[in-house]
Amino acid sequence: MSGYCAITFQNGYNQTTSRSIFTESIMTDSHSEAQSEAVGTSAEAFNKIGARYDVEFTNTELSLWFRARVWERLGTLFHAGDRVLELGCGTGEDAVWLAKRGVSVLATDGSQAMIDETRRKAQSAGVGDRVDVKLMDFAEAAHWQLEGQFDGAYSNYGALNCVGDWTAIGTQLTNHVRVGGKIGLGIIGPWCPWEVFWFTIHADFKNASRRLRGSTIAHLDGKYFPVYYPTVGRMQHDLGQGFHRSLLWGLGVFLPPSDLYKPVGERQWLARPLLTLEKLTAPYWPFKYLGDHYWLEMERV
Ligand SMILES: C[S@@+](CC[C@H](N)C(=O)[O-])C[C@H]1O[C@@H](n2cnc3c(N)ncnc32)[C@H](O)[C@@H]1O
Repeated sequence: MSGYCAITFQNGYNQTTSRSIFTESIMTDSHSEAQSEAVGTSAEAFNKIGARYDVEFTNTELSLWFRARVWERLGTLFHAGDRVLELGCGTGEDAVWLAKRGVSVLATDGSQAMIDETRRKAQSAGVGDRVDVKLMDFAEAAHWQLEGQFDGAYSNYGALNCVGDWTAIGTQLTNHVRVGGKIGLGIIGPWCPWEVFWFTIHADFKNASRRLRGSTIAHLDGKYFPVYYPTVGRMQHDLGQGFHRSLLWGLGVFLPPSDLYKPVGERQWLARPLLTLEKLTAPYWPFKYLGDHYWLEMERV
């Protein structure tokens, strides 16, 4: 297997990512490898990836399904004429999708390579006038200079897992999202039974328990950086009293872990029932807490 996401696990097998760029190979706990190399910032790590992110992650079968699921929600939350803020925009998939529907997006990311790719994609999709880009690192959230009010904000695919404290981001969102505005956050959660099962049967107890430990050191294309797994309660707490939860879904509740992800994605007879099960259960307890990711919506009050 090849690609920037290929990683050698401690038990020696290689794999490529396709489902969650974090939870599969990149975010596999590689602490012992990291000890011999400096742990850097997540933005530096993503800078090395840039446009390859789409080839090796965005356009894979189940990643497309994941994103379609999130688009169901973004399409409900935001409407033509709205101005919204995106945190950790990556290559701009969501920003371009919303802009095509008449939503203006300030797409921000800590990686210049990702910002450049978002700008390029927005222009080539003919929506460059509705997608502004801005380099903004989560680690500097207390100092972000944002102009005006937004009708809402969102962050998808675990971008916010690249920071370990969300209070400064919460303060910025409280100050810049209008009352009644919504935020939607796709976050890698701490409870993922499939992953625990998979690593446990491979006797890889370190990776089986990595999320439960709250954080790990991830590995992306030779760069190491910390990744955090906040509970829903922790996110709500850090975002502050200015927001009330309006919806919670599990994402990836019935989808298998990385080793089985590609084969499942390629077998529609197997993928379809799993996806149907996912749709039926994801909004309900306990499933809304149990996915690879969770999708949390909050309203500015
Ligand atoms: C897994 S990607 C998700 C990208 C995009 N939201 C998507 O749905 O494909 C995580 C993104 O978070 C960005 N990121 C990582 N660390 C960051 C930081 N400290 N500040 C701002 N953005 C960061 C990365 O550059 C990357 O674009």
